[in-house]
Amino acid sequence: MTRLTFHRPDDWHVHFRDGDPMRAVVPFTARAFGRAIVMPNLTPPVTTTALAAAYRERILAAVPEGVTFTPLMTAYLTDGSDPADIVAGHADGVLTAVKLYPAHATTNSQFGVTSIAAVRPVLAAMEKAGMPLLIHGEVTRAEVDVFDREARFVEEVLLPLLADFPGLKVVLEHVTTAEGVAVVKAHAGRMAGTITPQHLLYDRNALFKGGIRPHLYCLPILKRSTHKLALRAAATAGDGLFFLGTDTAPHLKHTKETACGCAGVFSAPTAIEAYLSVFEEEGALDRFEIFASLAGPAFYGLPVNPERVTWEKRSRPVAEAIEVPGAGEIVPLFGGETVAWSPV
Ligand code: NCD
Ligand code: ZN
Repeated sequence: MTRLTFHRPDDWHVHFRDGDPMRAVVPFTARAFGRAIVMPNLTPPVTTTALAAAYRERILAAVPEGVTFTPLMTAYLTDGSDPADIVAGHADGVLTAVKLYPAHATTNSQFGVTSIAAVRPVLAAMEKAGMPLLIHGEVTRAEVDVFDREARFVEEVLLPLLADFPGLKVVLEHVTTAEGVAVVKAHAGRMAGTITPQHLLYDRNALFKGGIRPHLYCLPILKRSTHKLALRAAATAGDGLFFLGTDTAPHLKHTKETACGCAGVFSAPTAIEAYLSVFEEEGALDRFEIFASLAGPAFYGLPVNPERVTWEKRSRPVAEAIEVPGAGEIVPLFGGETVAWSPV
């Protein structure tokens, strides 16, 4: 039996939502991960330290009894963000980072940033405070092809931003392209990238395999196979520049299986299983711990989780959906299928 023991991993990019859906999804992340960076794209968004502190309490109340889990909070950057509130929230230990959504890039991003010029004072304050900026890296202009939006963002927005704020720590979230991988590598030391399970497992053909597959639709969208291979190489390189960020993004089944479906893959129940399969296929299980448990804390300046967990090669079926009482179901990654790895 193949077994792997590693420090308890963290998830550096999750969407927990709020209310009943939050209470249904938080246990999956809390059982598998020691900490998670929580995305602030609620309605209304988590834009201030006070809103983040209140959201953190609601999340903690949803953590199952006996489970130790720390949510790390982020503030949603808007053109009107107050630099003093943001850096005070960081100094007080409420805010770990700030999330930049270009306006209209993805789910609940309509209050996002309209131009880097509009948020210069906040970025300058964060640079001074050593507070990381987490970026959804896609341009949003209608004339740019959806498959090109990340590469164009790197050229048009990210490279100028990195040059303007040379001391700002930046995470390119959910990297999906070779161009995204390259920009992280070129700025090693002040930059890192998170990679989702779905972008390591699938290329864009998977969206249309035998018919349209709404549960694999997420943003940034799945790309060509050449990009998937670049992401696999980056995740398994062992250089600590890329780390685990599932981008688990639950949406009720009926809001994905519809004429205009929501973007997001709910991967929390099977994320470690998915990453382990990829690392096994790449012959890189010896580097799994760097990606899942060590590189993230090193970038964020946090201790590694002290506990160790063991996983083994043992297949088990995955439920087709999880229930949100009174609201409906959410379909997880590998829902109704079998996974090859299980926790001991
Ligand atoms: C995320 C969501 O639903 O909140 N969706 C997604 O497809 N990844 C937002 C995001 O991270 O882009
Ligand atoms: Zn996300």
